[in-house]
Amino acid sequence: MCKKCEKTFYITTPIYYPSDKLHIGHTYCTVAADSMARYMRMRGYDVMFLTGTDEHGQKIEEKANAAGVTPQEFVDNIVAGKGGILDLWKLMNISNDRFIRTTDDYHVESIKKIFKKMYDNGDIYKGSYKGLYCTPCEAFWTESQLKDGKCPDCGRDVHYEEEEAYFFRLSKYADRVQALLETGDFLEPASRVNEMINNFIKPGLEDLCVSRTTFTWGIPVDFDPGHVVYVWVDALSNYITALGYMNDKYDDFEKYWPADVHFVGKEIVRFHSIIWPAMLMSLGLPMPKKVYGHGWLLLDGGKMSKSKGNVVDPVILAERYGVDALRFFLMREFPFGSDGMFSNELLISRINTDLANSLGNLVSRTVAMAEKYFGGVLPEEKQGGEHDSELIEAAGALRDAYQEQMDKYAFQSAIAEVFKVLARANKYIDETEPWVLAKDETKKPRLAMVLYNLLETIRICTVLLTPFIPDSCKKIFEQIGAEADITTWDSAARFGKLPSCASVNKGAAIFPRIDMAKELAELEKAEEERRNGSSAD
Ligand code: MSP
Repeated sequence: MCKKCEKTFYITTPIYYPSDKLHIGHTYCTVAADSMARYMRMRGYDVMFLTGTDEHGQKIEEKANAAGVTPQEFVDNIVAGKGGILDLWKLMNISNDRFIRTTDDYHVESIKKIFKKMYDNGDIYKGSYKGLYCTPCEAFWTESQLKDGKCPDCGRDVHYEEEEAYFFRLSKYADRVQALLETGDFLEPASRVNEMINNFIKPGLEDLCVSRTTFTWGIPVDFDPGHVVYVWVDALSNYITALGYMNDKYDDFEKYWPADVHFVGKEIVRFHSIIWPAMLMSLGLPMPKKVYGHGWLLLDGGKMSKSKGNVVDPVILAERYGVDALRFFLMREFPFGSDGMFSNELLISRINTDLANSLGNLVSRTVAMAEKYFGGVLPEEKQGGEHDSELIEAAGALRDAYQEQMDKYAFQSAIAEVFKVLARANKYIDETEPWVLAKDETKKPRLAMVLYNLLETIRICTVLLTPFIPDSCKKIFEQIGAEADITTWDSAARFGKLPSCASVNKGAAIFPRIDMAKELAELEKAEEERRNGSSAD
């Protein structure tokens, strides 16, 4: 079946360089893509969620040499070794449907053919490259693009390169790429469109150097073996090779391409919104529907890689607070399109206010009251009363408000909608005072109604939080006695799906409160030990 006939959704993250340990900033985009993929699956879409690793290039070759191993051994260890990238995504409960490594045979085979196709159609020609190169970013720069003489993306030194090379006729596609950017739908947030047009297209797009001869760790150009394909041409193509474009490994290209969205960090928007579309134009393929350039998590205004004083290792953080708490924090705290300042204090405070207090407390109080006053099963007889309609209306309208935000990739706002309703439910407890109702036998039907309304509100909110904190939501559903058929997207549109005689199952607190001062002191100690340990290496 083709893309047009089926409800499909194809979402990708960047493929990560297996060069250093991944930090919480890398985890950010993958968790966002995972939340989106889970949301679309819940909506009934056939989702293809792709992530992977970008394993070639000069940077990897240099790191492998320094470590005294072959580049393949080096990447194998970081990707598939113990505690590697695959383990990290498993730990973070990432539900990717496919994982591509650019060293996979089928990808290598496709890249050779893609390069040849662009060469055959006249878009790749041979010349010589004289200019500047930033190895950490694997990016070519002109003198005028540098910032204070350094790489404008990462601020590190660039060096001069001179070599025979193949070039891609990027300049030929400048007008078409600009028109694509100007449609307004293709690249988001909108601020990034002007940045691309003013900084890169208007000054004149130069042809792009797409092969290298000064190192060997790359995919050889089939018809000129001294050359290896430029790592970004190799990497960007992963989005189509992983579907089987020009290889026999998969055959879902027709089904899923064009991608619905590529999630990428802001510094690689340029590659995805200028070079990638031009490559696709050259190959005669449809454009992805959207590139979303998200912001960075920063530390005190600085980059995460220069971490000081804060724990940014996702494994340590997930072990201490739980995977869901970490996932939740990342999506709840920062608007997806902007930069955000990370700190351990902010993380703990968000866990305490939202997860332990607003959500966790509401669940445990409601379940505990249903146990205490009704032995865990609500009676049939109920009586409505003051404040019911406000709560029921808020919970009933929630799914639409949430969807509006999710469909714009506004994760923070979507979660905020849910927490508005949770706050309303907590207020409803204060207003209805169930503990007072419980003292009067004649008010038991009213008490039963209050608890039912609370359980229903929790159910709807939990359905909508599932893409972000899937395991915790499962536990909440168990506690409130919600069977699978009333934990679906459809079921979140209507209030009143729990059986009238709802039965609850008391369980452990899902999000225990964290003692901030004690925890920060312990983190500081752990961080100090880590630093002392690593300086001893
Ligand atoms: N290999 C390329 C991508 C090729 S995609 C065809 C690459 N890899 S990377 O490992 O350096 O970065 C992967 C992603 O992590 C990028 O989108 C980058 O923006 C993101 N992040 C790295 N540090 C980050 C933060 N501190 N905060 C948020 N995202 C960050 O680039």
